[in-house]
Amino acid sequence: MPSFVMPASRKPDSTPAPAAVTAVGLRKSYGDRTVLDGIDLRIPAGSVFALLGPNGAGKTTTVKILSTLVGADGGHAQVGGHDLVTSPDGVRAAIGVTGQFSAVDGLITGEENMLLMADLHHLPRGEGRRVAAELLARFDLAEVARKPASGYSGGMKRRLDLAMTLVGNPRIIFLDEPTTGLDPRSRHTMWGIVRELVAQGVTVLLTTQYLDEADELADRIAVLDGGRIVAEGTAEELKRLVPGGHVRLRFTDPAAHRAAAAALADAERDDAALTLRIPGDGSQRTLRAILDRLDAAGVEADELTVRTPDLDDVFFALTGGPTPPHRTQEVVR
Ligand SMILES: Nc1ncnc2c1ncn2[C@@H]1O[C@H](COP(=O)(O)OP(=O)(O)OP(=O)(O)O)[C@@H](O)[C@H]1O
Ligand SMILES: [Mg+2]
Repeated sequence: MPSFVMPASRKPDSTPAPAAVTAVGLRKSYGDRTVLDGIDLRIPAGSVFALLGPNGAGKTTTVKILSTLVGADGGHAQVGGHDLVTSPDGVRAAIGVTGQFSAVDGLITGEENMLLMADLHHLPRGEGRRVAAELLARFDLAEVARKPASGYSGGMKRRLDLAMTLVGNPRIIFLDEPTTGLDPRSRHTMWGIVRELVAQGVTVLLTTQYLDEADELADRIAVLDGGRIVAEGTAEELKRLVPGGHVRLRFTDPAAHRAAAAALADAERDDAALTLRIPGDGSQRTLRAILDRLDAAGVEADELTVRTPDLDDVFFALTGGPTPPHRTQEVVR
């Protein structure tokens, strides 16, 4: 599998943000199975970085290593300026981790879960109550705060999980699949919370299997597959790695279809569907060129569709899954 690494895109003359997380050559094996095969990461402070990959890619393993929950077999990493090996306590003090599987204790109430976290962070009792109440309100959990967490919905548990992570006011947060299993409304709520955190200068490393989530939230995305980073860049940079953009024209009159095909020699022609497919990026310039050529030939298409590649294309192209059916992004009639 080829590896594509894009240069960091930044404004000219701006100094790069200091790194909140750096990792070089992280390796991990379980028995004779290599789970991480040399992972390099650099996450600028105050940004959102998404680790995108299919089941078993090594996302959780990466998060566990960076949060000192398991040791790496090779490579080194710094989190919040602290080395994982020589200063694990420094790393733990700098981070908050919301694991893939809920840390919420269902037998006690949401408020009690929060107070337990406040105790773990050695907050004085009054301060702990204040922080707990503030976070429960911010995450829209104040009304259910005194009810056992076992009765919460998945989305409520996920919000409580994140609220518990924020008790220690961490500057770096690891979110392992924060929205898996949430309905669209709860996902958007979670995205809003992440954006708010980032606006306050918090650095977020999130893992996800959802392409739209990485696209929505992340400044940079690394695609992880089989324990290797197979591509890294902004969502736009990754989309440029895969072909697939085209303009599709549909006709109802076979004569118009024939005339258009003659005018657009680079088009792929489907005589049964009466369509033409012209490879291109769907920019205003390509569209104008196509329309000018149709005008010059005196034909008009009945429908014009623009399809740009999206992160699904990137995911399927780079992680070795089957190619998805073509979807329509944008339709102009
Ligand atoms: N404690 C362990 N012992 C043995 N194998 C493990 C252990 N933890 C993880 N693995 C293996 O390492 C590989 C990567 O697992 P990991 O949990 O990091 O994947 P992931 O990308 O988080 O997947 P998912 O999307 O399913 O959460 C898998 O093949 C998994 O079976
Ligand atoms: Mg996982």
